[in-house]
Amino acid sequence: MSTSPHLFYFTVFFFIFFFTHTSATDHIVGANKGWNPGINYTDWANNQTFYVTDLISFRYQKTQYNVFMVNQSGYDNCTTEGALGNWSSGKDFITLNKSQRYYFICGNGQCFSGMKVSVFVHPLPSPPSSKSAAVAANASSESATPLILHKGLRALAIAAVPFWIGWI
Ligand SMILES: *[C@@H]1O[C@H](CO)[C@@H](O)[C@H](O)[C@H]1NC(C)=O
Ligand SMILES: *[C@@H]1O[C@H](CO)[C@@H](O)[C@H](O)[C@H]1NC(C)=O
Ligand SMILES: *[C@@H]1O[C@H](CO)[C@@H](O)[C@H](O)[C@H]1NC(C)=O
Ligand SMILES: *[C@@H]1O[C@H](CO)[C@@H](O)[C@H](O)[C@H]1NC(C)=O
Ligand SMILES: *[C@@H]1O[C@H](CO)[C@@H](O)[C@H](O)[C@H]1NC(C)=O
Ligand SMILES: *[C@@H]1O[C@H](CO)[C@@H](O)[C@H](O)[C@H]1NC(C)=O
Ligand SMILES: *[C@@H]1O[C@H](CO)[C@@H](O)[C@H](O)[C@H]1NC(C)=O
Repeated sequence: MSTSPHLFYFTVFFFIFFFTHTSATDHIVGANKGWNPGINYTDWANNQTFYVTDLISFRYQKTQYNVFMVNQSGYDNCTTEGALGNWSSGKDFITLNKSQRYYFICGNGQCFSGMKVSVFVHPLPSPPSSKSAAVAANASSESATPLILHKGLRALAIAAVPFWIGWI
């Protein structure tokens, strides 16, 4: 029976690592303020880190607002000519498929009242399969971990390592 706690933490470790690697983050524009005029979305975007496969989602009154994906000219000038996409459900989930800068604006004139947001999407970090083994083997090496552990839950996974190996 003495091995069962180890098996438990081993399972927890891999579950958390698998979970954090495969689940994309949903970035709700404006958080609890949603997609509305008079909000500085640059401040909101600066507070988030976007990765490929993450979602950006817009919540708003669909009778009043909408969402257009535009290029930099459209963003700078608040114009939707040649828009790359548009959404108007009031609860739009948009997958950020590529590492690039994306521009979204409201198409009914409220762009001039601040309803515009630009986000840079980072490439996914390298697959964790080889790194997780390296980090586990090197658990005491402090320098290697901060580079790899960019998401909080992943840090939790590493915190489980001493339990798994049986140090505690
Ligand atoms: C929004 O905030 C950013 C950074 O704090 C600032 O540079 C920018 O001028 C602000 N935009 C508006 C429209 O106030
Ligand atoms: C940035 O995030 C922190 C922590 O989640 C939060 O307390 C703060 O209000 C956020 N700032 C903005 C401008 O959204
Ligand atoms: C839109 O803004 C860009 C700057 O990003 C400018 O170079 C361009 O002339 C503007 N286009 C129009 C149609 O106003
Ligand atoms: C943005 O799209 C418009 C319309 O398709 C185009 O005229 C403009 O050159 C584009 N601007 C950039 C920076 O790609
Ligand atoms: C919105 O997107 C649809 C395709 O998804 C397109 O047919 C339509 O013309 C777009 N509307 C505007 C106003 O650009
Ligand atoms: C990402 O790809 C999916 C599926 O091809 C597509 O429906 C979606 O519009 C894409 N997202 C963007 C922002 O282009
Ligand atoms: C393990 O840590 C040592 C230094 O403590 C470092 O030189 C080595 O590159 C690390 N190995 C891996 C696979 O991270």
